[in-house]
Amino acid sequence: MARRKSDRMQQIERMALYPLDWLEERSGLIGGVRYFLFRKVPGDTSWWHTLGSATLTAFLVQLATGVILAMYYKPDVNSAHESVQHITNDVWAGWLVRGMHRWGASVFIILMFMHMGRVFLFGAYKYPRELNWIVGVLLLATGLFEGLTGYLLPYDQTAYWATVVAININGTAPFVGPFLASLLRGGAEIGPDTLARFYSLHMLLVPGALLGLIGLHLYLVVRLGVSSPPWSPEAAGGQPEPEPPPARSGLVQPRPRAGVRGRPE
Ligand code: HEM
Repeated sequence: MARRKSDRMQQIERMALYPLDWLEERSGLIGGVRYFLFRKVPGDTSWWHTLGSATLTAFLVQLATGVILAMYYKPDVNSAHESVQHITNDVWAGWLVRGMHRWGASVFIILMFMHMGRVFLFGAYKYPRELNWIVGVLLLATGLFEGLTGYLLPYDQTAYWATVVAININGTAPFVGPFLASLLRGGAEIGPDTLARFYSLHMLLVPGALLGLIGLHLYLVVRLGVSSPPWSPEAAGGQPEPEPPPARSGLVQPRPRAGVRGRPE
């Protein structure tokens, strides 16, 4: 009876796992995800090493909330502000989704800086991880640009004047400044073309670039492995510690005592 029951359990298990087996046989995706999630990391990794994953989580929250906001937002100078008010006041849980996206943007940037600080202070940018540091710098610049383009979208006084300041700062760059400012504005004045431009950048180009860069960043993390903290013998640039001498059995080494009868002096 017990045997028949376990056979039945096995059958149910096989049925439940069938879709996963089907996918694995045709794509190897399950094995890839398992490799990513269960790969080996140094034994002395600590909470500091979770900052990268925290940044990734903040980015994914921004993606999810951003997609929901885009279902209600109207990228037009006459209706942008009203559509944001409508999301906040009328749409079910709209205030929550908008709040998560607005505050989440700061959380994402702060976590990115904290993660970068951890990498710098732990010396994790050294050989062989220099390329991943460079990808990280691109991620930082792209992440900041995502914040800038999103700031204009509510199209209120704060958004408008903050964008005026940001574009004017860019305009002061040597040689390329005026070109950069006009490219961002989409003309001589901030107006409908600027909003359309910022919306397209914020929704399509910049998130796409972030996704590509994060993919490359994580590929390099998996390929190179996570580095040990600086106090570890295996830290980047460090030498492995020599093997400790074998433990002694007591305070003194047992050996023949001098002057004992029957033993050599
Ligand atoms: C969207 C932003 C970012 C995400 C999602 C992200 C994600 C991650 C993750 C998950 C890890 C592995 C775990 C860890 O070490 O924390 C990592 C490692 C690393 N990240 Fe980032 N990162 C981002 C931005 C940056 C920035 C701005 C830099 C530096 C400029 C950077 C440089 C590095 C380096 C060098 C490593 C390897 C560290 C090691 O092996 O110990 N990352 N990143």
